[in-house]
Amino acid sequence: MFGMDHVGVAVRTLDEAIHVYTDVLGFKLEGVQVLTEQKVKVAFISAGGDTRIELLEPLSSDSPVAKFLESRGEGIHHLAVTVDNIEAILKELKRKGVVLVDDTPRTGAEGARIAFIHPKSMRGVLLELVERP
Ligand code: CO
Repeated sequence: MFGMDHVGVAVRTLDEAIHVYTDVLGFKLEGVQVLTEQKVKVAFISAGGDTRIELLEPLSSDSPVAKFLESRGEGIHHLAVTVDNIEAILKELKRKGVVLVDDTPRTGAEGARIAFIHPKSMRGVLLELVERP
């Protein structure tokens, strides 16, 4: 049921980050997408097998990723795991007292349904649940 979906990395300039991860490191660019609702532009990079990296550039200064960059600089922003029933899992986690960023799923990159769990409840790690169509 659970497996790693991707690692999210906050970056200042997407094009430069894509260059480093593909041309320099040799990973493969899968696609670029603008997520207006989340105020980010993302690039998915395949690192081989099922391993993927999501590069996130903020679209505006009030984007949560912009705030992250301001306080922590570039680096790992979140871990994402794949789930098969996101609503049931969110309900269960809430019942267990876990602090959620999203009580209900929203639409993320590639049409997936996603929800974030607050780092407060995950030992400092922002955790994303991803249910793929
Ligand atoms: Co993500």
